[in-house]
Amino acid sequence: MTKVDPWADIQGKVDYDKLIKDFGTEKIDQKLMQRLEQHAKHKGLGLHHFLRRGIFFSHRDMKWILDEYEKGNKFYLYTGRGPSGDVHLGHLVPWMFTKWLQDVFDVELWFQMTDDEKFLFKADLSLEEANRLAYENALDVLAVGFDPKKTKIFVDTDYAATLYPLAIQIAKRLNFTTTKAVFGFSGETNVGAIFYTSMQSVPCILPSVLAKRNIPCLIPYAIDQDAHFRITRDILPKLGYYKPAAIHCRFLPPLTGPGKMSTTGSSKDSTIFVTDDAKTIRKKVMRWAFSGGKDTVEEHRKHGGNTDVDMAFQWLTYFEPDDEKLAYIKRQYESGELLSGELKQILVDTIVPIIDEHQKRREAARKVLPQVLLKDRRHS
Ligand code: TRP
Repeated sequence: MTKVDPWADIQGKVDYDKLIKDFGTEKIDQKLMQRLEQHAKHKGLGLHHFLRRGIFFSHRDMKWILDEYEKGNKFYLYTGRGPSGDVHLGHLVPWMFTKWLQDVFDVELWFQMTDDEKFLFKADLSLEEANRLAYENALDVLAVGFDPKKTKIFVDTDYAATLYPLAIQIAKRLNFTTTKAVFGFSGETNVGAIFYTSMQSVPCILPSVLAKRNIPCLIPYAIDQDAHFRITRDILPKLGYYKPAAIHCRFLPPLTGPGKMSTTGSSKDSTIFVTDDAKTIRKKVMRWAFSGGKDTVEEHRKHGGNTDVDMAFQWLTYFEPDDEKLAYIKRQYESGELLSGELKQILVDTIVPIIDEHQKRREAARKVLPQVLLKDRRHS
């Protein structure tokens, strides 16, 4: 079984149902989806296709979050990014969903940029570079379309005077035996890394501390981050706060096959960055996307392709929101009418406009960024 923790290079098929069992989370069921759909309807929106297709598949305490919301006790959203390089399409998945949640519930988003984390966990990344990347990546976050009036972004080392006193409240209740058991740390692990979960926990209480009243927190994230929040959820009630609720997504698999896309691991060349141009995207898809098609055109026409393993099709389940269109493509491919190269071209035609749009909004975000930044140290 593939190991799923925050720092593993995840390769091979991930058994998501098993993760629900192992991590003790709950599957997103029809009832919860219907409830979310009702809220979306109020805003003239539909249920997000990530929910319809099980890409967001698991949660903790979503029912509680909705109960409170319906009683008038609004939650806020919290998510984050460890800035270690350029943003790729896989990163956009939880952020796109977070934007949908912000639109549906009209709530604040608190977004943490963990330059400290990436500095501590990456042997060859300087703090200066991690900090620079944090501000670059913040543009990509805004490009997703969050409401600037309801969004706050902060970079850990530039907001440390605010974060640190809260981090040590948490750190005092977290012992080495626990982090070691959860993350597999050893005697060789640097002590900054051991401390780090306390920093990632702070945004689960920060808005409550600042508002001087407890506010429910909902964290959307890819399931590999769950280890941190299992710890956070144990500690916060002891400090008098709510446990944060969570909603979890699968990883966008690499074009080359199942697993988690990574900029450092095996799938680097095939990764599609949000900074890639149309030509590069086409080249990468054509060259790398694992095909579920048959070896020859004749065979393919006769037997059709396998959409379960075909990565161009799998990616379309993430980026083509139209269910009917997707079903039509599936039928065409499985019947052999559509060839593998044609299916790849459909994927290219689907993601190029998404990335084009992203790049435009990313440029526009330069003006907005100063308005949403929280910091207690000037960025030089
Ligand atoms: N640890 C995350 C990463 O490496 C960054 C992060 C910080 C985060 N806070 C978060 C991710 C909250 C999801 C939710 O990318």
